Amino acid sequence: MHSNDTSNPPEYSDTVVRAFALVAVLWGIVGMLVGVVIAAELTWPEISLGIPWLSYGRLRPLHTNAVIFAFGGCALFATSYHVVQRTCQTRLFMPGLAMFTFIGWQMVILAAAISLPLGFTQGKEYAELEWPIDILIGVVWVAYAVVFFGTVGTRKIRHIYVANWFFGAFIIAVALLHIVNSAAIPVSLTKSYSAYAGVQDAMVQWWYGHNAVGFFLTAGFLGMMYYYIPKQAGRPVYSYRLSIVHFWALIFTYMWAGPHHLHYTALPDWVQSVGMIFSLVLLAPSWGGMINGIMTLSGAWHKLRDDPILKFLIVSLSFYGMSTFEGPMMSIKTVNALSHYTDWTVGHVHSGALGWVGMISMGSLYHLIPRMFGKDKMFSMRAVELHFWIATIGIVLYIAAMWIAGVMQGLMWRAVNADGTLVYSFVESVKASYPFYVIRFGGGLLYLGGMLIMAWNVVMTVKGAKPATARIPMVTVAQA
Ligand code: HEM
Ligand code: HEM
Repeated sequence: MHSNDTSNPPEYSDTVVRAFALVAVLWGIVGMLVGVVIAAELTWPEISLGIPWLSYGRLRPLHTNAVIFAFGGCALFATSYHVVQRTCQTRLFMPGLAMFTFIGWQMVILAAAISLPLGFTQGKEYAELEWPIDILIGVVWVAYAVVFFGTVGTRKIRHIYVANWFFGAFIIAVALLHIVNSAAIPVSLTKSYSAYAGVQDAMVQWWYGHNAVGFFLTAGFLGMMYYYIPKQAGRPVYSYRLSIVHFWALIFTYMWAGPHHLHYTALPDWVQSVGMIFSLVLLAPSWGGMINGIMTLSGAWHKLRDDPILKFLIVSLSFYGMSTFEGPMMSIKTVNALSHYTDWTVGHVHSGALGWVGMISMGSLYHLIPRMFGKDKMFSMRAVELHFWIATIGIVLYIAAMWIAGVMQGLMWRAVNADGTLVYSFVESVKASYPFYVIRFGGGLLYLGGMLIMAWNVVMTVKGAKPATARIPMVTVAQA
């Protein structure tokens, strides 16, 4: 594939990168808008007007699927296809198949956007989609693996850069998780029953659920971190050795932590304890990665002052550090006895989701999009700065409200009178949560507002611009 004619080296296959990057912004807006709607429904339940497909129970999975798999997924496809070509100095293996992953993934998203509001669901969190869509996901994912690993396999330099290790682990693990957890017996085109039953079903589901966090919401985004932070900061990764230790420790440990979602259930007690211990251990590799990312800025801290893209990237790591400290704490059984079922969990989720996943994606897309359209920066860097600040304020409002509401709920539910009766009825805890739901709604609106600014800025950046054609640098025999 690599021509020997140095005057006209081949181009990277970036059409698919551009397509995924642009739709990531679009799906971000859709997913977050649904998030704001369900936040409003929790505050003012009557706004669903009794229309079934607007009900909270149907829109909630639409929100989680849209933000994780549509927004996060498209950002991951875009960045992994971009990074793997640059770091392997070759074009995508089978670019036609890569375009198939784009079309196939958009079909999955549309199928989800139609079937979830209609009420079709397998009832497994983050794996709600019915079996025909699951099969399509499987096919797209295998194609993704062929393109990604084919590109790594045909690389022009010997070394495999660490970002590709993370993207590669994300692709393999998600395939494994999806196939095992989605095993089901179909009874019609729109209905199936899980192949597992009882406590085994619960364990398979949370093995999947937790590793969806570990591999979909973490490993892939760490791939972004390892490429875009050094690029944006103009500094090499702080420690290459730490990145490798971090990689193996993280992927080994994540696989065992799932039972922390099932504390005090019918799951054998020792399995719960294993989950708790591995969750506590997980703090170390998580912070190793965070430190590696943040320290990449050593000697270049001043750049943070005037580079809003770097602010997105570095603050995302602070939220990553925060949520990966909080998670191990919540996995301790006695802490979980308080936090489980409360909004503390929702606060934890969104410090990871809005702070880490959202911000690292936004920072990476702000770096990537202008370059893909032959521009050296976004149309308005002041708009990027504004986006950064309103998103940050939005996150702080969201998660602080949920922490307070969550701890309050946990304490109210366990408060007992001297005679053993409950001090508070459940509805009193709901009433006490109301102001915090209003604050969360406000925080969500701000975060969504930031995304709208981003969309405007992206449109202005790419309007009239021609897709940039980047040629692959020729590699010497010694490097190859
Ligand atoms: C060291 C890392 C982490 C550990 C040990 C951890 C641990 C936990 C624990 C104990 C829960 C509560 C389970 C329950 O009571 O039901 C939880 C929930 C959750 N965490 Fe984490 N967490 C970590 C990092 C993260 C990150 C970085 C994200 C997001 C990017 C995240 C996303 C979630 C989600 C989505 C849930 C809710 C699951 C559900 O019930 O639907 N976690 N985590
Ligand atoms: C404007 C921004 C957002 C708002 C207003 C919002 C709002 C909400 C609300 C109200 C819930 C339901 C909470 C409950 O059941 O009590 C929720 C759940 C969830 N959201 Fe968001 N969200 C936003 C962005 C995001 C993003 C960007 C992600 C991921 C990248 C995300 C991931 C999740 C997850 C995983 C859950 C399920 C949590 C659980 O089961 O514990 N959200 N969100």
